[in-house]
Order: sequence, then C-alpha cells, then structure tokens
Amino acid sequence: MAEEKIVIFDTTLRDGEQSPGASMTVDEKLRIAKQLERLRVDVIEAGYPMASQGDFEAVQRVAATIKECSVAGLARTTFADIDRAWEALAGAVEPRIHVFIATSPIHMKHKLNMQPDQVVEAAVAAVRHAKKYTRNVEWSAEDAGRTEIDFLCRIVEAVIAAGATTVNIPDTVGYTLPHEFGARIRTLTERVANIHQAVLSVHCHNDLGLAVANSLAAVLHGARQVECTINGLGERAGNAALEEVVMAIRTRKDLLPFQVGVVTNELIRTSKLVSVVTGFPVQPNKAIVGANAFAHESGIHQDGMLKEATTYEIMTPESVGLTATRMVLGKHSGRHAFRDRLEILGYDLSQEHLDRAFRRFKEVADKKQELFDADLEALVDDEIIRETEYYRLVRLHVASGTQDTPVAAVEMDVQGHRLRGASWGAGPVDAVYQAIAQMVPELKEMGLQLYQVHAVTGGTDAQGEVTVRLQTGEQVIQGQGADSDVIVASAKAFINALNRAAHKKSRSRPGV
Ligand code: KIV
Ligand code: ZN
Repeated sequence: MAEEKIVIFDTTLRDGEQSPGASMTVDEKLRIAKQLERLRVDVIEAGYPMASQGDFEAVQRVAATIKECSVAGLARTTFADIDRAWEALAGAVEPRIHVFIATSPIHMKHKLNMQPDQVVEAAVAAVRHAKKYTRNVEWSAEDAGRTEIDFLCRIVEAVIAAGATTVNIPDTVGYTLPHEFGARIRTLTERVANIHQAVLSVHCHNDLGLAVANSLAAVLHGARQVECTINGLGERAGNAALEEVVMAIRTRKDLLPFQVGVVTNELIRTSKLVSVVTGFPVQPNKAIVGANAFAHESGIHQDGMLKEATTYEIMTPESVGLTATRMVLGKHSGRHAFRDRLEILGYDLSQEHLDRAFRRFKEVADKKQELFDADLEALVDDEIIRETEYYRLVRLHVASGTQDTPVAAVEMDVQGHRLRGASWGAGPVDAVYQAIAQMVPELKEMGLQLYQVHAVTGGTDAQGEVTVRLQTGEQVIQGQGADSDVIVASAKAFINALNRAAHKKSRSRPGV
C-alpha cells in the first residue's frame, strides 16, 4: 500500500519571524523562501500581509517567485485581512489563504470578547469569504490545545462545511502532553462527520519542549500536515523544528510509515541560512543541525564508529547535508571557480552581488590561505547582509594592549555624509561601540543583550562571525558581521543592527 503523505508546512517566515529580534527584510525573506523551495517543503507561509507594508511586500514577492511550493499568507477573520492577504498572494502558482481565530474559553473571553456562537459565525464567514478567492483555504483554531473538545469538534465541522480544505489545530501555548494532544486529534477524526473532506494539520509550540513530540503524536492519530520552522524558530520557545520532524519520520519509518517530500540533504544549508539571516545561533548539541550532532568524542564511541558507523549513528551525516570540511578555494582561485562553488552552495547571486562577493573573497584570501565552504558562506552572507545599508563602515582604527587604554576611531558613511567618532573603552569592542555611539546617539539608548563571536572554521586565521543583540524599549534587534579581524567584525555587527533598526522603523506588527 502506498504510504500516506505528510504535508510539511513551513512557517519560518511568519511564526519564526515573530521571535523577538528575528525580523527579516524582504530580500532576506526571499532568500530563505528560495532555499525552502530547494528543500522542497510543501507550503511556505510567507507572512501576515495585513501586519505592515513590509510583510505585504514580502508575501507578494515570495508568491511571485516561488514555483514549486504552495505559498500561504495569514489573515484574521476580518474581511479586510483576507482581502489584503489575497492581494499579496494572487501571483502565486498555488496560493493559500490561512485564516485563524481563537477558540479557547480564555482567548474568547479575554482577548476577543466574543461568545462561542459569534466565533463560529466569524470563522464560517471568513472561510466563505476566502473561498471566493481560492479553493485552497486553511483555517486555524488558535489555542486549540486549551479549547473545549465539544466546541472544537463543532467549529471544525462548521468550517469544513464552509469550504476549508485544511483545518489546523495549534497548541498555541505549548501546554499539552503528547498522549493528550494525540487523543485530541483522534477525537476529531472520530467525531467530526466531514473530517475527511479536509487535511487535518497541527501547529505545536515548544513551551514545555514537546513541540516535536506532540506533532508526531498527532501524526500517529490522523494529522496529515505538520506546521514547523527551521531550527524551531518561533514565538517564545519556538515551534516544532522542521528538521527534527522530518528526520524522525524518515529515520523511524517502522513506526511512522509516511512519506515526506523534503530533500533532507538541504537541511543543514537551510538551517545555516536561517541562523545567519536572523542572528539566532544554533546550539552545538541541537538535534540534526547542531555542530555536534554527528561528532563522536568518547574513545569507545570513536572505536565503534570506525568498526561500524551504525553502532552510534542512527542516520548518516550525508543524509542531512553534512559533508567533510575541505579546503575549497585559495587566493589563486579565479572568478569561475568562485561562482561555481557558490552555485553548489545554493547561491543565486546577481552580477553586482557576485562582483562584490568576489572582491571580498580576494581580500579574505590574501589574509587566509585556505578557504572552506563555511568561509565562503560567511563572506557572501556578510556582503548580502550589508545590502540594505543606511550606515556603512568606511574605516576603523583600534589600539589596545596590556598597558594602554583601548581606543577606537571609526569613520562611517551615513547616507552620503561622512561622520567620524573616537572614544576609549573598557576593551577594544567597547571603544568601537562608544565611537559609533558618538555618531548615532540612539545606540547609547540601546542595551547590549548579547555579544557573541564564533570562529567560522578552525585555526587562528579563521574568520570571526559576530552576533549582537540590542534592546531598545520593547524591541530586540540583531546584527551580524564577519571578518578575519574580530574587532572589525564587531563594528560591522553593530552597524548591521543599526541598519536593521532603521529598516524596522518603517514596519509595525499587530499581535497574532
Ligand atoms: O500558534 C498559533 O496559534 C498560530 C496560529 C496563528 C496558527 O501561530
Ligand atoms: Zn504559532
């Protein structure tokens, strides 16, 4: 008998972007969407078009570009939200309108201030309205994990009768346990008369660390779509991690006899891209995509691995896209070799980006003899990150030592104006930060929540990748920079955060 398919619905660009500090520019969203297409997810939720002009444009551009996946846009049950979602999605090959309304007693009473009958009425009207635009309509019961089961069955039946083709059951606050959530899904399959007219979906948050377990329990009890995000990005503790859901299904086919269309050897590349764009590092021991996920440290394990890899490996590193690190390019490598390698790494750069990246490659190759794939990714990402530049680093000079007070002089271009700042600091990074703050006083108002350096490869000549997280009021802004000089990388990261803050000013998001 043919295996049933599990639809993989990726919401990195919508729910993932709701992580504080993870907001992305339109270009960044497009890059991730193209990689998700290469990964062959079934549905890409590209954003929430009513939230802001930026979200609208992102959904519109993803919809116009992506050909191999369905593209979804989120909407509340208001007709204005649905109309706006359709306006953004209309150019997609397979558009999906995703409408949601809360169904738990807590949400209906305190958030919506609506009676259950009114919620059913609004949900049905919204689905009917969305159906005027497309046959592909998903409906979600926000906080379904805490919704009374009789009411959940009633409203699910009503929205399917109104035309919903996918019905999504979110555990919005990550409250349920696997056996409980699985039973909820089974009850829906048993009690909702028309349930077979729609795909039953789940969307689990990770507040108790159970998002993946709950999603798999739901699959075992009848769910046929899983909503998830790369690296488990998402509101609060995040969503179910796509890579974990997919590899669990693939690795445990004996107990999960389902088919997923994801090209798993694109998982690591996708994870890295999302991490670079959002500035959310992947913890080393993260399942599937963490740096240590396939590293064997203990002597006994290494011995077992040498004798027979399956002693300690339940899946191969190659199956998730992990390849042996090897020197790929050096300073004598030409433009063709550089472009070919970037193509293999999945970059599709415009001529202008390619020229800029190649110039940068030559600069780095002059300092660092061997360049690995990770180096190329870091320098190309750094070049692309700097695309939306409002502030640009022109020159940096730093002096520090055991006997001297660290000092920094920084020159920046701010929309065609040259500005200079100089300062001392507790250390060279602090001095750079203070010097930039002289030119951009807002920086002084921002608290530095996180400063992190990561060596892209081994060796003392490795490029340093710096991530900073700045807090301003309610907002958290990330910045990244890469360079073989970590102080320069730090300055780039601060400036990248300022650019993101400037970009963010034009965007606002009503709560989902
Ligand atoms: O967590 C949630 O309930 C959601 C819905 C909007 C699907 O993200
Ligand atoms: Zn969610």
